[in-house]
Amino acid sequence: QGNYEVTLIPGDGIGPEISRSVKQIFAAAKVPIEWEEVDVTPIIKDGKTAIPDNAIESVRKNTVALKGPLATPIGKGHVSLNLTLRRTFNLYANVRPCRSIVGYKTPYENVDTVLIRENTEGEYSGIEHEVVDGVVQSIKLITKEASERVARYAFTYAQQVGRDRVTAVHKANIMKLADGLFLDVCKQVSKDFPNIKFNDILLDRACLHITQDPNIYADTVMVMPNLYGDILSDMCAGLIGGLGLTPSGNIGRDASIFEAVHGTAPDIAGQDKANPTALLLSGIMMLRHMRLYAEADNIERAVLTTIAEGKTLTGDLGGHSTNTQYTEAVIKKLSSA
Ligand code: IPM
Ligand code: MN
Repeated sequence: QGNYEVTLIPGDGIGPEISRSVKQIFAAAKVPIEWEEVDVTPIIKDGKTAIPDNAIESVRKNTVALKGPLATPIGKGHVSLNLTLRRTFNLYANVRPCRSIVGYKTPYENVDTVLIRENTEGEYSGIEHEVVDGVVQSIKLITKEASERVARYAFTYAQQVGRDRVTAVHKANIMKLADGLFLDVCKQVSKDFPNIKFNDILLDRACLHITQDPNIYADTVMVMPNLYGDILSDMCAGLIGGLGLTPSGNIGRDASIFEAVHGTAPDIAGQDKANPTALLLSGIMMLRHMRLYAEADNIERAVLTTIAEGKTLTGDLGGHSTNTQYTEAVIKKLSSA
């Protein structure tokens, strides 16, 4: 019986060490995948930073990838490689669940939110102009096609995971055209899913409610334009302890890339201090996407009990263990180990 081949993009900074941890834990859990590891150190193509062709080819061939953090330079003339990947493969839905982690206390309990972010356009369309000196425009592009695609994905996702509502998050009171279209399309799509309830909420009110009582959002799937999803998903992550503990998946028709949303943490890179949990949870999300449910459940249980017991935690979670020690502790908890 053959193994699935999956592309691994270890990434920059702490990327290689947290990727190593994932590889070790997946191997110990006997996950039937073979990693095709690719480097995405940017190359210059037509005067612009680009992703090496072999990395693109690998994702195209394998259709599933796991990705560590890539540094995004701020400023003109730099293209984010993260965005390049999303665009290249038209990864239209970015799924970001946030669940309270037993063993890591925050002011919030039992948080269980799911946010789906439109991932190809909106404020990320990259269409910007200087009209005249001192006056600039950044275009927020919203299309019916992309809105419908992500809305449909959100309803289907709700059905799959047993949530009974989809909530569109928007500012249609201000962005009458852009968010108005997004909201209209969500309403239209909701008619095709009579067993799923639909409501909508203004983004600012959603932020207010979520910080007052996140449980209001425990039964719904939130869906929204790109930038709102970027911001609100960090806020949801904050409720459960930050980006070190949250997975994400970029879903497309022809490929899907699962990634840790946190940064490259250059200050601790190479010191065996990094927490691989976000990449592990992204890997678990990837396994479920590949229908490797038993392997996903086994690894998830091992990760969550390791954190819940609290004996072998990395520094970011208040512990004193190295990444290596944490990884070994997780492996000991696997039911196959
Ligand atoms: C994210 C990140 C990216 C984004 C950056 C790194 C380009 O913040 O995945 O949320 O803004 O989408
Ligand atoms: Mn972000």
